[in-house]
Formats: sequence, structure tokens, C-alpha cells
Amino acid sequence: MPIVHLNGRNLPAEEACVPVLDRGFIFGDGVYEVIPVFGGHPFRLDEHLQRLENSLSEVRIPSPHTRGEWTTLIRNLIDANGGGDQSLYLQVTRGPAARDHALPENPAPTVFAMSNPLRPPAPEVLEQGIEAITLDDIRWSRCHIKAISLLPNILLRQTALDAGATEAILIRDGQATEGAASNLFAVLDGELRTPPKGPRLLPGITRDVILELAAANGIPHREADIRAEDLAHASEVWVTSSTREILPVTTLDGKAVGNGRPGPVFRRMYDLYQANKAKLRGNR
Ligand code: PDD
Repeated sequence: MPIVHLNGRNLPAEEACVPVLDRGFIFGDGVYEVIPVFGGHPFRLDEHLQRLENSLSEVRIPSPHTRGEWTTLIRNLIDANGGGDQSLYLQVTRGPAARDHALPENPAPTVFAMSNPLRPPAPEVLEQGIEAITLDDIRWSRCHIKAISLLPNILLRQTALDAGATEAILIRDGQATEGAASNLFAVLDGELRTPPKGPRLLPGITRDVILELAAANGIPHREADIRAEDLAHASEVWVTSSTREILPVTTLDGKAVGNGRPGPVFRRMYDLYQANKAKLRGNR
């Protein structure tokens, strides 16, 4: 049975209990992180903790731990679950309080973390690419906060699945912003493009890695808006996240992207990303 962390203790998942009045349960009042772990080593931990602190501060939950305490908590949980490759989920809610929209005066945040299996995309998925559909972004206007209240994201992803696709690419005010649980890249006129950070999208850690790898390896790239209609003539479209890495979208809204196969920029970036991962494994 996996070992989870709850409020300062590591224990078997079955034994971990949260009060029913926890505001995470009642209101979806909390924030989270998903940190990939390679060879027992958390990937870009400082960047994930920085994003967690940003999310906490945006929703006015006092951070229950220092950076050092978070690091110890995470490393202990990775070890308790046998090291190797994992997807570490970390969540902080505002904690238990009588149900009231107003913020409690003395919140006691609930800290929960668990380890899930991390399975990289299967070779046939990387070989063929995935299908995606575009959908209107029905989320709120503060999508840079990694909030646990994911009902719109869940419904968008399910609409994509119901249509036989793997991911929904979201459109707001005519701009393609990101996926239901991923960031968006497109190759347009030979240049790799991703929408700039801002309240319309989550500042993905994988997104940053890809931009760094592009810069270090002379791949033309730019942070700039991608109009919904640009997607129709992109030679490549990708979605990226910590758990799914880089996935080439080869069919969008039922039409082939480029020649309908994962493109050359994807193949190059995929190799660079894997080499970067291998380096991290070697460092432990
Ligand atoms: N989600 N945008 C959204 C809306 C996301 O939910 C995610 C990741 C990303 C990519 O961020 P990163 O590269 O830091 O994983 C972008 C996680 C994996 C999840 O909710 O499970």
C-alpha cells in the first residue's frame, strides 16, 4: 500500500483521514503541485515549490512550511515509497472550519502528499501522436493559480475523451492558451511558439524546460500568442506536462496536423528532454 503524508506524518493511504469540514472538501479551497521524480530525484523541486508558494499567496493561505521543510517532507515521502520514478502529488487546503465563505481567522491548513506511478507515454503514442479537439475555455480568469477546484478542467478533458480525443486545447477570446491539463506549443513558419505566461494559463514547469532546451540548442522559439486559426496551419502542435512530458498532437479537430505524423522539431525536443532527464537520474 502506498505511503502518504498527512499533516506531518507518513502513514499508509488507508489510514489517512481528513475532517469532513475541511475547506478543501467543502469548497475546493486549496492548491496543489505535481512533481515528477526520476531515479528518486524530484525534478525542478525549487521551481515547483516556488509555484506552490505563489499559488498559496494568491489564494491567501499561509504557507504551512518553509522551503527546507517542504524539501525534507518530499524527500522522505519519495524514499518511503521506494524511490525510482514517481509522480508526487502535494496539496494544501485551508483546513477545517465551520462552513462560511469568509476566510477563517486562524486557519490550520491541511497538508497532504501522495506518490503515484509515473508512466512515460507509451512508444506507440509517441510514434503516432495523439488526437486533440479545441473547446471554449470555461474556466475562471486566474488560471495561473494551481487550484484544486478543477471541475471545468475535468469536464473539458472528459468532453475530449467522449469525442475520441486525448486532450482539449482551450480557446479564449480567439487565442489558444493551453490544454485542460497541459501547456501548448505549436511550430509556425519554422518557429516553436508557446503563449506567454499570464492569468490565462498555468506557468508549466515542463514548458520552462522546453524553452530552455530550445534556447540552449539553437531551436528558433518565441513566447507569443497562438490564435485559434493559427493552429490550422501549424506544422506541429504539442501539449506538455510533468506527467505526460511532450505529446505530439497529430490530429486536431479531426484534421491532420502537418503531415499527420510527429514532426522533426518534436523528435529533436523529445531527445533533448530525455537526455536532460537521464542527467538528473545520474546526479542522485
Ligand atoms: N497538470 N496547464 C494545466 C492546466 C495543468 O493542469 C498542467 C499540469 C500544466 C503543465 O504544468 P507542468 O508542466 O508543471 O506539469 C499546464 C498536472 C500534471 C495535473 O493536474 O495533474
